[in-house]
Order: sequence, then structure tokens, then C-alpha cells
Amino acid sequence: MTVPAVPLAGVLGWPVAHSLSPLLHGHWLAHLGIKGFYVPLGCPPEAFDDAVPALLKTGFVGFNVTVPHKEAAAQLCDVITPRAEQMGSANTIWREDGRLMGDSTDGLGFLSALPPLPSGANVLVVGAGGSAKAIVHALAGLDTVAHITIANRTLEKAEQLAQTMRPLFPQTAFDAVSIEACQPALESAAMLVHTTTLGMIGQPPLSVALSHAASQPVVYDIVSTPAKPPLLQAAEAAGLTAINGLHMLIGQARPGFAKWFGMAAPHTGEEAALLIAALGQSADGSVAS
Ligand code: ATR
Repeated sequence: MTVPAVPLAGVLGWPVAHSLSPLLHGHWLAHLGIKGFYVPLGCPPEAFDDAVPALLKTGFVGFNVTVPHKEAAAQLCDVITPRAEQMGSANTIWREDGRLMGDSTDGLGFLSALPPLPSGANVLVVGAGGSAKAIVHALAGLDTVAHITIANRTLEKAEQLAQTMRPLFPQTAFDAVSIEACQPALESAAMLVHTTTLGMIGQPPLSVALSHAASQPVVYDIVSTPAKPPLLQAAEAAGLTAINGLHMLIGQARPGFAKWFGMAAPHTGEEAALLIAALGQSADGSVAS
């Protein structure tokens, strides 16, 4: 693909004003001196199928796609990667040889911040929505992960996710439990991943007893508002490794940047601080007044 003199990319979502992606891509573009733009594109669901071809005719080289368009994006593309096919959703769209291509990079973003896990690891994933699906899919693809327990408020959704994953990853064991019943799984888990809205500003925290977990799990919370949600504060207090969701956001953005702008997104070391500042939070993740 030849990159135009002033390449345009953006994120299609509804709503989209809260998206941190324009800030992140703008930071990378400025750092590399690329004269391109990455903009938020508010697009209601019924307009999505027409918006993509129209924008491509006006100098856009590709897009990120966020809620509620990820499934529609996978449908609209001419070719999608095997992982996007398995997920039934795409968050990154680009053009290649006249074809519209799609990939699902949330799982890659999640893995980009993951420390090595011990061989035969058990992992507890709390939540069974779109993010949990990408994360469970990415984890199940790791040789080190042997067993994934999915805990969700609505048990049927956890069971459904486990059911979807079993044929894709026959070497991995999947279990489904309710959130109230997840403590035993935590006790043998090498990692706890939290993907629900619990702990977000104005929401009660996820209630688990981290200090009881003899396995000393890594705690990865994909909530980024606040940057240090109560679960990560509890993890640090218990001496556990704590990872926040901003790293997943940064990691999922890199593949698109390279496709659209023809250069790898740099590692400036300033990304997380930039996003935290934009969220109006202090460095420890508390919300500035
Ligand atoms: P995302 O794309 O961020 O994963 P989602 O697909 O809407 O968003 O999924 C939201 C997840 O948060 C679900 O696991 C949801 O649980 P249910 O399947 O029971 O709805 C979970 N969730 C949302 N609010 C919650 C709450 N108050 N308590 C526990 N879980 C909650």
C-alpha cells in the first residue's frame, strides 16, 4: 500500500468523544514527524456500512472501529484475519490491493503488557463481554496457559463463552462460574484478569480476597478510569504485580498505526502518562478534582 502525502485515519464509534485513540495516534504521528491525522468519527450504527466506503474515497487509509461497530466491521471487510473470524469482530481496518482488510487486535494489546506466565498456568477471567472474549481467545493461544475459568454475573454468558472457545482451543480447559463462586479458582490462579465495569468511577469494586490467594496471582484490570482501580490498589497492597488497562489500549493501537502510516508506532515511554493526564487523573490513578 502506498501511503498518501497526508494520510488520514480515525476511530469510528457511537459515541466516540471519550476515545483516547486520537490523542495516542497524534502523539506517535508528532513523534515521527508524519504529516497525517487520526480523528474521532461519530457514526451511528445505521450509518456504518455507508460511512466506511465514503470515507475511503476521501483520503482515509483506514480506521479503528469501536463499540458498537466491531461485529459490523468484520462483516463489511473483504478479508479478515483468522482471529477476527473466530471472534466475529474487527477493530482495525485497512486497505490492501483494493481490498478492505480487518483484524481484531484487542487480544494482542492485552498480551503486550503481560509478564511471562508459568507453564500449565490457570487463569481466572472475570467478565464475559466483548473484551473478555478477546482476552480469553488471546490467553488460550498461549502455550503456557492450561486452564481458563470465566466468572460472570450472568453465568449463562460465561458458559456461552467457554462453549465458543472449546472447539477453537481443544488443548485448553475452560470452566464457567458465577462471580460469587470464583474465589476457589483465584486460589490456584497464576493471573486474575478483570474485564467488567466494577471498579469504574461510580461503581462498587470487584469483591475478591486477593490476600487469600496462595498462588500470588498477577492482577490485570482492564478498567482505565480510574487508572488505578480499587482492585489494582488491593493487588499492590497485597504485594502482587498489578497491570492496568491503558497498556492494553496502547498495545491494540500499534498494528493499525503501522498499517496506515507505514511506520511502526514508536515506544516513546510517554504514552501511559499522556493518557492518564487526559483522563484528568493524577499519576497514582486518583481522579483530579
Ligand atoms: P466490554 O466490551 O467492555 O467487555 P460488554 O461486552 O458490555 O463490555 O461486557 C460487560 C461485562 O461487564 C459483562 O461481563 C457484564 O456482565 P453480564 O454479562 O452479567 O452483564 C459485566 N458487568 C457489567 N456491569 C456489571 C455489574 N454491575 N456487576 C458485575 N458485572 C457487570
